[in-house]
This record gives sequence, structure tokens and C-alpha cells, in this order.
Amino acid sequence: MSAPSPHDPRLEQAGATDESLLAAHEQALGKKPDDKAHYKLLPLALLFIFSGIIFYAGTYLNHYSGGYSAAVFDENGHPAAGAAPAKIDPLVLGKKNYELVCTTCHQATGLGVPGVYPPLAGSEWVNGSEERMIRIVVYGLKGPLHVKGANFGAAAMPVFGKVAGSGYNWNDEKIAAVLSYVRQEWGNKSAPITADKVAAIRAKEGDRKEWAQDELLKLP
Ligand code: HEC
Repeated sequence: MSAPSPHDPRLEQAGATDESLLAAHEQALGKKPDDKAHYKLLPLALLFIFSGIIFYAGTYLNHYSGGYSAAVFDENGHPAAGAAPAKIDPLVLGKKNYELVCTTCHQATGLGVPGVYPPLAGSEWVNGSEERMIRIVVYGLKGPLHVKGANFGAAAMPVFGKVAGSGYNWNDEKIAAVLSYVRQEWGNKSAPITADKVAAIRAKEGDRKEWAQDELLKLP
């Protein structure tokens, strides 16, 4: 067995890199550079798109997985037979609706705005007759009004009930809840008002215009 001749072409090939081989072939073939034979980077835009999708998917999972709690989704769970839907506490519902709407005028403190919006905290209307208070909130109130020794009447109390001309159309439960809440907040200590009582007054009065102080004072 003889030593390979230094001119053996195989020796030259062993020392060649991929790049130099490709270059040599391109030269030999006299073509333009063969781009398809080389590795190429992905377009940068694709990198951003996929990173964006992964980020979105991660955030989505994190937000909607409910902490992967079995109480949120349990494929082996069985709903308790005959479980009643949870009942909403009227005071919680009332507080929520007060904060959504009434607070703009009567304020979070229940003290109102002097000369414009009367106070509910310590008000004789709030802590007095159910008959009058329900009518005020279901049908609205306009004109001169005396509350806690001060005079009001510059603005009107809106119509909240499910009656003609109402901007809110709150059902009897919602009205009862907000009234019950107001009657026990800010130191007020009056009994809650039931949805049945609101329904009864609405049935009795039907559709009518807003109340005035004098009319209300004739009621029990
Ligand atoms: C747009 C402002 C406004 C909003 C919102 C509003 N009120 Fe009134 N409310 C008034 C005004 C003004 C009066 C007095 C009307 C008058 O002077 O004749 C009044 C009067 C009252 C009164 C009788 C007077 C008193 O101070 O006790 C009660 C009770 C009352 N509002 C409860 C509520 C409740 C409960 C809500 C939310 C469901 C509410 N109001 C939302 C403006 C508002």
C-alpha cells in the first residue's frame, strides 16, 4: 500500500469547506450565486409576529384560566343536585346601584350638595314613610322641598321606576334594594323596603307625572 500522492484530488477535497465547495462549483458552472443552496435568516417581521402571538396567548391564558382552579373547571366534577342559584344580597345590589347613579347628585357621603341636591343622610324623607320614599324614587320629584331644615327645588329628582317617561326603567327589586341600602347607610337606621311593596305602589299609581312635596305630604 503506497502513501497517497500529494497531487491526489481527494486530499484537496478533505480540506475544503462547504462554502468553498459551493463557490468552486458556482465558478465552474459560471452561474450567478446559487442563493437557494445557502442558509437564510427568516424575515425579521415573522419573528415579531410570532413573538406577538406567543405574548398574546400567554396573557390570555393567564387572564382567563381562573388560576387553573378546580372550582372553575373540573371535568370530573358533578354539580350538586338541585343547587339553587346564589341569591344576591339586596344591600350589596343597592350599594352598587347607588354608587353607579345616585352618588353623582347625592354624593358618596349621602350629604348631597347644599342648595341643589338634598342630603339622604339623616333625611326625614328617607327615614320616614315608605309610601312617600318609594314614590319619590319610582316617579321622580320636582318643585320646592324641605329637607333637614333647608330648602331645595333648584333641580329635579329623576324617574327611576319601570314607568312611562323613565330614563332608567329599574325593576322593583332594584328600587327596593337601593332604598333599603340608603335607609341603613350613613347612620340611617330604618327598616328595609321589599320589592313587593314597590310593586304594590307602582300597580296602584300606574303611569303618572313626578310628585310634588304637597302631594306627598298628604300620603300616610
Ligand atoms: C340628577 C341628580 C339626581 C340623581 C341621579 C338622584 N337624585 Fe335624588 N334628588 C335629586 C334632587 C334634585 C332632589 C330634590 C328634588 C326637589 O327639590 O324637588 C332629590 C330628592 C331625593 C329624595 C328626597 C329628599 C331627600 O333628600 O331625602 C330621595 C329619597 C332621593 N332623592 C333618593 C335618590 C336615590 C335613591 C337615587 C338613586 C337611585 C337618587 N335620588 C338619584 C337629584 C338626584
